[in-house]
Amino acid sequence: MRSMTETLAFLHERLTERPRVLLILGSGLGGFADELEDAVRIPYAEIPGFPPSTVEGHKGQLVAGRAEGVECLALQGRFHLYEGHPPERLALPVRAAAALGARTLIVTNAAGGVNPAFRAGDLMLIEDHINLMGRNPLIGPVIPGDPRFPDMSEPYDRGLRAIAERVALERRIRLVRGVYLAVAGPSYETPAEVRMFRRLGADAVGMSTVPEVIVARALGVRVLGVSLITNAAAGVAATPLSHADVVAAGAEAAGRFTALLRGILTELQRLPDVELA
Ligand code: HPA
Repeated sequence: MRSMTETLAFLHERLTERPRVLLILGSGLGGFADELEDAVRIPYAEIPGFPPSTVEGHKGQLVAGRAEGVECLALQGRFHLYEGHPPERLALPVRAAAALGARTLIVTNAAGGVNPAFRAGDLMLIEDHINLMGRNPLIGPVIPGDPRFPDMSEPYDRGLRAIAERVALERRIRLVRGVYLAVAGPSYETPAEVRMFRRLGADAVGMSTVPEVIVARALGVRVLGVSLITNAAAGVAATPLSHADVVAAGAEAAGRFTALLRGILTELQRLPDVELA
């Protein structure tokens, strides 16, 4: 883990505050990081060990700053399996943030709606996930400090989910809930695959998030996950899928997403750090 040591040394030097929350902002949702106060922005290309982001709609920079009084480390754009990264690298930012002191991960993504009741533009609270990526970021020698077989019985923290539900209710933001199923991508799913995913218990399908969540849980970091349903998954609606539509849906939902996130951070700010951890 030579690169991890270098990554941490670099970040320790550049960041002045200990982050409490790591925010991973998915396709079209990166705008929230532009609103952070007293922000320090670092392009991934400058951070040792971080590869540049190659996906349109992902800026590829880390932003440290405060929102609602909570010190955040936000990733504008993440690394995906389909970009060719080895699975263990996908969660490098999670390892770095945890080492810097963050005890909470708020992870977001764009996803296709498998549940026919979902509408494009819905925000979905992730209750659980199914890993059909065929890979796991913990495969390989055990990294010192990691458990060999981490527990995954509550990947998405019950307490954080309750906070999100309460905020959505108070602020009148439609928040559906469901199971996120992760595939490797980059091709979108076929209608037959989507029918299979529905039978398996999935409500949404996407190409990210699960590797980061697995590593966060292995490190004891609490996780809150929110999917933006950008489209009905293949076969659920008649229209073909395009990345441009995914990015456009993100722009449309940005206001609601930001309101939800601000409400959640406000609640976290009220909690003492021990409860946060
Ligand atoms: N499938 C997989 N990933 C996605 C989708 C989809 O329909 N929409 C946004 N990300």
